[in-house]
Amino acid sequence: MSRIVALTGGTGFIGKAIWRALESAGWTVRPLIRPSFLEGRPDFMPGKDFVQGTLEDESSLSTLVDGVTAIVHCAGRVQGVSREKFKQDNVDGVGRLARIAAKQVPAPHFLSISSLAAREPHLSSYAWSKQQGEMALEKAAGGMNWIILRPPAVYGPEDQAILPLFQWIQRGIGLQLGSSRARFSLLYVEDLANAVTQWLDQGLHSGRAFELHDGKAGGYSWKDVFTQITNKKVIPILIPGSLLSALASINQILAKVLKYEPMLTYGKVRELRHPNWVCDNNDLTQALGWEPLVPLAKGVQRTLYPYGHRSS
Ligand SMILES: NC(=O)c1ccc[n+]([C@@H]2O[C@H](COP(=O)([O-])OP(=O)(O)OC[C@H]3O[C@@H](n4cnc5c(N)ncnc54)[C@H](OP(=O)(O)O)[C@@H]3O)[C@@H](O)[C@H]2O)c1
Repeated sequence: MSRIVALTGGTGFIGKAIWRALESAGWTVRPLIRPSFLEGRPDFMPGKDFVQGTLEDESSLSTLVDGVTAIVHCAGRVQGVSREKFKQDNVDGVGRLARIAAKQVPAPHFLSISSLAAREPHLSSYAWSKQQGEMALEKAAGGMNWIILRPPAVYGPEDQAILPLFQWIQRGIGLQLGSSRARFSLLYVEDLANAVTQWLDQGLHSGRAFELHDGKAGGYSWKDVFTQITNKKVIPILIPGSLLSALASINQILAKVLKYEPMLTYGKVRELRHPNWVCDNNDLTQALGWEPLVPLAKGVQRTLYPYGHRSS
């Protein structure tokens, strides 16, 4: 039986890890690749079955899902200011893809990567769009078997967002972006990718969202993270919310003038300063038997030294 899986977001940080895991698990991956990504990358080899297009383009999406066993939707907008743009990519995009997929006979299985942020939609346009995207999938899913995974902050080699914080901690400087009482879960990217392949392989009937983390029940404080990364003394530097907001303000103005999509925005500051990003693995482990394999100390080593591990 052919096992073709359509993959969106396969050129991004998490999508690349999912792509590798799917191929290792024996799936034939049919990725959706944006023309803008291919421009200037003549050496990029997406395989012969890739589809060029975007989430806005119905005809590419129809080609993408034609005859597939499963769909992994990992594409998403993770930075920017405009709620409208978040809506286009993270709400309308998943709704359109699910609607088109649900017309396939037989109906493919549909896995969507949401975010723990969906739990707190009031914090930012990003968080709101992830919650609305989940609702859009549920509405459009029809007879498909679907699942939503809600990862917390994901890290690993090739991630540019968390890596600098790890590097500073290694040098003995603990940049602390939230309160000392805040707690948060984390997840190594390959553990997320393994949860995806495990769900696809088992075909477990789901129809709901599942949280998942790296196995640390109750999550981490900033101090816990410092001690997991290095044995050296780390000087914690608490970045006050007012400074983060000021930086976000400057960044938003620059972004408007220079026309780029900013990562640090007022919404991102509210997300960073939220005191509780702890999630729970129990439901997913019970349903799927999935267990995370990479604890933080090991994941940090792999992230800092992707070409050869060494301890600090
Ligand atoms: N990173 C985290 O810590 C984290 C945590 C929880 C959830 N998530 C979720 O995981 C997903 C992937 O995040 P990431 O960190 O891997 O982000 P990323 O590196 O920015 O990757 C985003 C991917 O989505 C694609 N994409 C975006 N808009 C698209 C559109 N309109 N049409 C087609 N493709 C589009 C991008 O294509 P191009 O390469 O062409 O830009 C890229 O492949 C997102 O849904 C995000 O919300 C991430």
